[in-house]
Amino acid sequence: MNILVVGRGGREHSIVMKLAEDNMVTRIYVAPGNGGIAEQATCVPIDEMDVEGLVNFAKRNAIDLTIVGPEDPLNAGIANRFQEEGLKIFAPTREAALLEGSKSFAKAFMKKYEIPTADANTFTNAEEAKQYIDSKGAPIVVKADGLVAGKGVIVAETKDQAYQAVDEMLVAKHFAEAGTTIVIEEFLAGNEFTLMAFVHEKNVFPMIPARDHKRVFDNDEGPNTGGMGAYAPVADVSNEHLIFAKEEILQKAVEGLMKEGQPFMGILYAGLIMTEEGPKVIEFNTRFGDPETQVVLPLLKNDLAQVLVDVMDGHNPQLKWEEGCSVGVVVASEGYPDAYRKGVRIPEISSVDDAFTIHGGTKSEGGSLVSNGGRVLLVGAKDDSLEKAADTVYEALALIDDMKGFFYRRDIGRN
Ligand code: AMP
Ligand code: GLY
Repeated sequence: MNILVVGRGGREHSIVMKLAEDNMVTRIYVAPGNGGIAEQATCVPIDEMDVEGLVNFAKRNAIDLTIVGPEDPLNAGIANRFQEEGLKIFAPTREAALLEGSKSFAKAFMKKYEIPTADANTFTNAEEAKQYIDSKGAPIVVKADGLVAGKGVIVAETKDQAYQAVDEMLVAKHFAEAGTTIVIEEFLAGNEFTLMAFVHEKNVFPMIPARDHKRVFDNDEGPNTGGMGAYAPVADVSNEHLIFAKEEILQKAVEGLMKEGQPFMGILYAGLIMTEEGPKVIEFNTRFGDPETQVVLPLLKNDLAQVLVDVMDGHNPQLKWEEGCSVGVVVASEGYPDAYRKGVRIPEISSVDDAFTIHGGTKSEGGSLVSNGGRVLLVGAKDDSLEKAADTVYEALALIDDMKGFFYRRDIGRN
C-alpha cells in the first residue's frame, strides 16, 4: 500500500512510525511533514489545507489510503473531496467533523441524543452572555465555538474572569470568526481522560484510554495548550466506566450521526471527565489526539494500516494492546502557548535505551534541525509501569544540557 499522511506534528510522526512497522505498507508520504518525519518518510511540500493539491498528489502517486491528522482540513471538507474523486480516505466528512468544528453544534447534538455532558448555553451577544454568567456564578467555563487549536477554552474561577473571556471573544474578537459564537458551560470537577476509537458508521472500536495534560505548567497550572504530555493507559478509570463511555457516549454519538444522515468514518475522540455521576463529555474531536496518539499507538500490537482497512471494510480489527504503559513529555518553545520564537536550534536528545523521540514543530534548515512550532518534540518511553516509563523519559530529558529556548513539564505520568 502507498499511504499519504496529512499533517506536520508529533501525532503524524507517531502515525508514520507505526505505519513503518507494517508489512503491507510500501511507501509513506507525508504532506507537509516535519524535520523528524523526513528521516522516515517522503515529505511533500503540500500544505494540509491545500485540498486540491492533496487530491492531485493522491491520484498521481497511486495512493491507496490517506490518513488525516489535524482538524482544519476535515472542516475544509478534505474527506468529501477525496470521496468525490473515488479516493480512499480514513477521515470524517465536513458535516460529521462538525462534532469538533462547532462546540455549539456538539452541545445541541449531545442534548438531542442524551449524551452526558455539562449543561451549556450558546451566545453571540456579550450582554446576554454576562447575564447568564451572573445567574450561574463561578466557576464557569467559556468556550469559543470554532477551531482555535485547543486554546479557546477559559475555565473561569471568578465571574470577572468569565466576563473578561466573553469580552475577549465576542467584543475584541480575539479568536476572529471562531469566537463570534461562544458556549458557556457548567464547570465539572473530576479526573479527565481521553477515549479514542476507530469508527465506521455504527461500528466503534475503542483504543486504550489515555490522559493528556493540557495546562502549560506543572500541577496543571497556567493556560490551556494543545497538550504538554500524556500517558496511557489510565489506571484510575474502571472497566465499567470504559464500557459506559463506549456504549453511552461513543456508540450513541455515531448512531446519532447516522440518524442525522451524516455517518462517521475516522477517529472519534471523546475528551471525558469522571464526575460523581459517571463520565461526561468535555469535548469531541474527530481525529487522533495530539499528544495522546504518541502514547497510545506504541502500545497497539496490530498493524495500523490493517486496522484501518478492516474498519473501513466493516470488519472487526481485533485490536490487541501491550500490557505495559507509555508516557510522553512534550518539549515546547519558551513562551508557548502565547508568542514564541521559531528557528531555534533543537537540542540533541542522546539515546537512552527504550526512550523514543517524536518530532512536532521542527524543520531542517542548513543541515540542522530548528524549531518551527510551539510543541517541538515529544520524548516517550514504554515500560511495565507508569513510574518506570516516566523515569526513562525524564532520564533522557535530563541528559540534554542545552534547553535554552525550550521547556517541559516535570510531572507527566507522576500523579
Ligand atoms: P476543551 O478544549 O473543550 O477540551 O477544553 C480544554 C480543557 O478545559 C479541558 O481539558 C478541561 O480541563 C477544561 N474544561 C473544559 N470544559 C470544562 C468543564 N465544563 N468543566 C471543567 N473543565 C473544563
Ligand atoms: N490532546 C488534545 C487534542 O488533541 O485536542
